[in-house]
Amino acid sequence: MATAHIEAKEGVIAKTVLMPGDPLRAKFIADTYLENVVQFNNVRGMLGFTGTYNGKTISVMGSGMGMPSIGIYSYELYKFYGVENIVRIGSCGAYTADLDLYDVLLVDRAWSESTYPETQSGVETGEYTFPDETLNEELLVVAKELNIPVTKGTIHSSDVFYREDRTVGQKIFKEKNAIAVEMESFALFHNAKVLGKKAACLLTVSDNLVTQQETTSEERQNAFTKMMDIALGLAK
Ligand code: HPA
Repeated sequence: MATAHIEAKEGVIAKTVLMPGDPLRAKFIADTYLENVVQFNNVRGMLGFTGTYNGKTISVMGSGMGMPSIGIYSYELYKFYGVENIVRIGSCGAYTADLDLYDVLLVDRAWSESTYPETQSGVETGEYTFPDETLNEELLVVAKELNIPVTKGTIHSSDVFYREDRTVGQKIFKEKNAIAVEMESFALFHNAKVLGKKAACLLTVSDNLVTQQETTSEERQNAFTKMMDIALGLAK
């Protein structure tokens, strides 16, 4: 049953997988939130775990950084492991001073300069990809129950973290309505669409590219709990 990048046995991965970029964060989530944990992957150190949350089964696995990486892992999970739902749980840089550090965003549209969809399936799909609406609604219901404010919006999935021209972000904010930047959602949403599956993305603001505020890795870890509590509400 193993694929090129995942060594899990059949039936070990849950229908719903939460995907942080960092595999060590996947381990932290499994250690902190889940019971009856089984590790199902360590190929290239891209740790994956299945466990129970409130008695319901859920998996968590690192995606790596960037669209090529999440493209590989999400494709294999959907296509070969019967995964139905993937929720990316990541960090983002805000393109507007209106967003504060640690705000939680729910992505309702991803814009990118990337050619991932055309390259992947040979079809021109346009410059936006979209999450699954029912998953987004479920996440909003959980957020409301937990009293956690969530901002819905368009984000930019960038191919490049270190751009020479730091002004491009403000152009994308104005022209594409993207309120924040990360590097994965656009490809994840495309894979879900091509394979008839569901995807969503929750993000925590880890830096503000307008005000130049930044978080430490320890602060990020704490802020992460709000987003985690929402995502874990999807355990079924
Ligand atoms: N750029 C791209 N991805 C990110 C950023 C950023 O500034 N911050 C967090 N994820």
